[in-house]
Amino acid sequence: MSDTIRWGILGTGSIAHKFATGLAVLPDAALVAVGSRRQKAADAFGDEFDVPNRHAGYEALAADPDVDVVYVATPHVFHCDNTVLCLDHGKHVLCEKPFAINAHETRQMIAEARRNHRFLMAAVWTRFLPTMVKLREILASGRIGEVKLMQVDFGFRAGLKPEARLFNPALGGGALLDVGSYTVQLAAMVFGQPPAKITSTMQLGETGVDEQTAMLFTYDQGQMAQLACAIRTSTSQEASIFGTEGRIHFPSWWNGTTLTVWDKSSGAEGETMTLPFEGNGYNCEAQAVMECIRAGKLESEVMPLDETIQLMETLDTVRAQGGLRYPME
Ligand SMILES: NC(=O)c1ccc[n+]([C@@H]2O[C@H](COP(=O)([O-])OP(=O)(O)OC[C@H]3O[C@@H](n4cnc5c(N)ncnc54)[C@H](OP(=O)(O)O)[C@@H]3O)[C@@H](O)[C@H]2O)c1
Repeated sequence: MSDTIRWGILGTGSIAHKFATGLAVLPDAALVAVGSRRQKAADAFGDEFDVPNRHAGYEALAADPDVDVVYVATPHVFHCDNTVLCLDHGKHVLCEKPFAINAHETRQMIAEARRNHRFLMAAVWTRFLPTMVKLREILASGRIGEVKLMQVDFGFRAGLKPEARLFNPALGGGALLDVGSYTVQLAAMVFGQPPAKITSTMQLGETGVDEQTAMLFTYDQGQMAQLACAIRTSTSQEASIFGTEGRIHFPSWWNGTTLTVWDKSSGAEGETMTLPFEGNGYNCEAQAVMECIRAGKLESEVMPLDETIQLMETLDTVRAQGGLRYPME
């Protein structure tokens, strides 16, 4: 493999566009192929991002010998099939979040990656942004002491379109899998373990998927995380982490560039850090994937596969408590 990592994108929707835009700022990445259900959409995407190989059908993309790694950018319900298809054709895979519909599918995908000795990662892009790298550093340094409590929310108001991905049960719709999954992974990153106890409630809307979900996680030493997500209500999208020696606040936690730390040395106003990133941020996760592939790693230490299974088990428990079961399950 040359130094340039050759990417293929599977699907041509909204996030595929953002990811392709992110890749364009990486000099050691080449977007060489795109696959769509329709040739016309593959060609349009190819024209927009100057992609040479344009495939009608996902199998042709998976079989493309010019591709090293495929980014799976379809709705959640297709992630398992699409990922397994690519792994079976010998490709490495970065698969959008939520990684799958449930833990059963997640285990299947990971088993397939391990069987084929290929790299696989859930595309939790926020974990690779500089603010999140800084958060991990601060927590590891003990600067705010022992973390006791955290609060995080991710909600936005979408127009109700019953057939669209966000509201359609057949496409894995609902707030929990779409944006709640981000809050759940943040709690896992902060506490470094799955919750010992999960208490949650869901409001199911007229299409049968959750329009908002609230969760309270308790950990083995009594630590707690309060999480909320919504697709019909705009929330502040803030996060706060409270420790025995201080606290950290993110005014825009999942895509922002600033955080403020209060501790003994920071004064009443706290220490605000600004950590900008290049491009639109999706390049940060793509760069991390390429570093892993070059180093011959089969998974990322920042977003490991066993943790990906635990995250999906947590989402399964919350859905079971809320009474949300998808038609394909
Ligand atoms: N990381 C993030 O920040 C982020 C943000 C938004 C979404 N996502 C995730 O990315 C995935 C895709 O979301 P999106 O917003 O990009 O969705 P989208 O705009 O609806 O695009 C999804 C694409 O998947 C393909 N597809 C295959 N079968 C489909 C079907 N039956 N119905 C609809 N599309 C189908 C289509 O591509 P072709 O027609 O070309 O085959 C379509 O353009 C979701 O899992 C979502 O959670 C992640």
